Amino acid sequence: MGQFELSHRVVLAPLTRCRSYGNVPQPHAAVYYSQRATKGGLLIAEATGVSATAQGYPETPGIWTQEQVEAWKPIVDAVHRKGALFFLQIWHVGRVSTNELQPNGQAPISSTDKQISPDPEHGQAPLLVYSKPRRLGTEEIAGIVDDFRRAARNAIEAGFDGVQFMKDSSNDRDDEYGGSLENRCRFAIEVIDAIVSEVGAHRVGIRLSPFVDYMDCVDSDPMALGHYMIQQLNKHEGFLYCHMVEPRMAIVDGRRQIPRRLLPFRKAFKGTFIAAGGYDREEGNKVVAEGYTDLVAYGRLFLANPDLPRRFELGAPLNKYDRSTFYIQDPVVGYTDYPFLEGDDKNNESTVEA
Ligand SMILES: Cc1cc2nc3c(=O)[nH]c(=O)nc-3n(C[C@H](O)[C@H](O)[C@H](O)COP(=O)(O)O)c2cc1C
Repeated sequence: MGQFELSHRVVLAPLTRCRSYGNVPQPHAAVYYSQRATKGGLLIAEATGVSATAQGYPETPGIWTQEQVEAWKPIVDAVHRKGALFFLQIWHVGRVSTNELQPNGQAPISSTDKQISPDPEHGQAPLLVYSKPRRLGTEEIAGIVDDFRRAARNAIEAGFDGVQFMKDSSNDRDDEYGGSLENRCRFAIEVIDAIVSEVGAHRVGIRLSPFVDYMDCVDSDPMALGHYMIQQLNKHEGFLYCHMVEPRMAIVDGRRQIPRRLLPFRKAFKGTFIAAGGYDREEGNKVVAEGYTDLVAYGRLFLANPDLPRRFELGAPLNKYDRSTFYIQDPVVGYTDYPFLEGDDKNNESTVEA
């Protein structure tokens, strides 16, 4: 993958875990991430706020203050000691937030002033009701681009090997950041340009979810959106990776199936391609063998199996994940207490103390 040497294709997908008290990463994160680190494996850290307005979930980490940068350093060190590569996902939640989570109780900022409709079924997030957002003025947008630039710089200072970022694409603006496809992608492209100029394309990946439909974020033409973004990424020589999320699983003949809609994007993108969304060992092996993707990112399975690459290697049974502890604030339960394979303490040596 670019200048990085990977020894296997099992990637830790970014997973928000809500255990960074006061938006500061904690020592228990060093245990959690180093448990999942393998020599030559790629870990993508949980979504991490680029500023005080970027937060939308309780107790999620940030990387806009020096205290946060310093707190990430031992976590990155613990992962590097195991020989893994560590990328930080830097994000802004946009309107997926509440006044309580915003500085001075202000409204969340967004590309729109439309509130997300309450959706008890979105399933992957801890909150159900989000506040009415404030549409950013055109002149305020450059400041948010700068927040991403600073976050990328801070991530490299903290020792991360690179950064991945994502954006919220819901948009009903009528300025140069809304309307046409080019305009709607302008903010993301400005962020890409800023981060690439700050830390170098060889350290930057992006996660794109054109098909994802939760949080009232639906695009009428996800193929066109994805292709346009990939064309823009390709303009940056050596842009490291594109990480894409499959549409929701479909039920075919009573079985859940991965829709496998990403191949055109993989073909169009010049760098390393990562697919995510519903994969298991069998499906992952299949898509790699077929040239559908270079790497596969695993979310829930990796969350529940700290030694997932080892279990895949052996074809060993997997621990089941416990959804009820995904987003709780406990420093151990549902976080660092998922068991390793019995009798296999090779990967279980903790190099850090919580
Ligand atoms: C607890 C939890 C937290 C998540 N947090 C993030 C996140 O911070 N950033 C992100 O891009 N995706 C996040 N996701 C989505 C996962 O990265 C992944 O795309 C999703 O779980 C589907 O893959 P899977 O079927 O292998 O679990 C999260 C998913 C779960 C279950």
